[in-house]
Amino acid sequence: MKNLLGFSKNFLWGSAVSEYQVSGALYCPHSQWAQWEKKKGAIREGDRSGASADHAFRFEEDITLMQELGLNSFRFSIEWSSVEPVEGQFNRQILAEYRNRIKALVARGITPMVTLHHFTHPTWFEEKGGFTKAENIAFFVRFARRIFLEYSAYVSLWCTINEPSIVSLMGYFMGAFPPGTKDLTTAGVVLKNMLWAHVQVYEILKAMPRGEESQIGLVHQYLRFEPYSKWNPFSSIICRYLTKNFHESILTFLRTGFFKFTIPFKGSLSFSLPSAKGSYDFLGINYYSRALLKMQWSLKEPLQAACYPDEVMTDMPYAVYPRGFYEALVDCSSLGKPIYVTENGIADERDDRREGFIRGYLEALSDAMKKGVDVRGYFYWSLLDNFEWAEGWKMRFGLYSFDPITKKRTLKKGSQIYRQIIEEARGSTQDLTSHKMM
Ligand code: BGC
Repeated sequence: MKNLLGFSKNFLWGSAVSEYQVSGALYCPHSQWAQWEKKKGAIREGDRSGASADHAFRFEEDITLMQELGLNSFRFSIEWSSVEPVEGQFNRQILAEYRNRIKALVARGITPMVTLHHFTHPTWFEEKGGFTKAENIAFFVRFARRIFLEYSAYVSLWCTINEPSIVSLMGYFMGAFPPGTKDLTTAGVVLKNMLWAHVQVYEILKAMPRGEESQIGLVHQYLRFEPYSKWNPFSSIICRYLTKNFHESILTFLRTGFFKFTIPFKGSLSFSLPSAKGSYDFLGINYYSRALLKMQWSLKEPLQAACYPDEVMTDMPYAVYPRGFYEALVDCSSLGKPIYVTENGIADERDDRREGFIRGYLEALSDAMKKGVDVRGYFYWSLLDNFEWAEGWKMRFGLYSFDPITKKRTLKKGSQIYRQIIEEARGSTQDLTSHKMM
């Protein structure tokens, strides 16, 4: 194995979760996802999240798991629908529970990174049209302010919104996430409004007490679509379209303040917000793989996810692709802001690819850092096996599995490498700031 270099002493070695995925509909009964799960055909094999790993009530135990691995940071989301189940009414008990959790993390040497929106929100917000309406952004801003007021004394790393592009793509174009809409124009509007919401939240939190010292960023899934065969004009055009509208448009918005989303045969939706340029202290990158699409003779599904014969497939419809991770980091470094890898991991039910995945991707990360890319932390997705949205329980991303009845956690064999790498990297810490590209 290559020598992993470039990690400073302050580098954050973490894992990430989202509340809904690890605590389930039982803890988030007022979210739109809790309603969506009940719909016939919405989740693979009719799976239900239930209490999931019961993380909300086992957080002390889960902090011990983090410590066992040598982690010094944890990214998690605060569930808006549980904090504000009824419009304008904040649940004091839930707020107190989050306070306990955050204080416990800090007391045990784990730096918290809080996400304010990770796919779920209250049903009352959804009923008002959610992010399809620009005027609804104010509700999210109010929630964000409240949370910042409550916890900014303990939390200095904040992610506003997790993956606006995926919410828009899956919820409003593919129809696989709530509300199940399949309409490109609405997808474009939602993406624009979520980016706008990010900027509003950023500006408001920065102006609050402790805002200046806090690091606030947007989390983007770096996802490029590529045709299996470059000679196939149909798949090339589709891939180009998807990459441009659901990926490049976001980086361009952060770079220039200008957003453009094309709607074939209808024109385009554009939006200019010059202040967006500076409206993030870091970029959170979620990176899994590229989407390689192969054409097939089917009217219903003309493009299918594929991988080349020399590639290793994950359980999700994409391959292990560390080279793309390296390229993503180098590409994003041109934004000139620090980067956190807010998610990276593998769905691997057999646990026979996880070790190679972690090794390969962390080598790619180290290579990028040696080149001068300013990465401040890496969060493996996920600490625990969890409810993988429309894919239900089939996709096992966790470093730890858990027993569905007793909830007892077990470290997977393939995860042990993460602990070893962290130990080694800590032993050979060096600061490469003098080599930085920016
Ligand atoms: C999401 C996670 C999800 C992961 C794996 C990301 O898009 O932020 O919630 O579990 O990918 O698919």
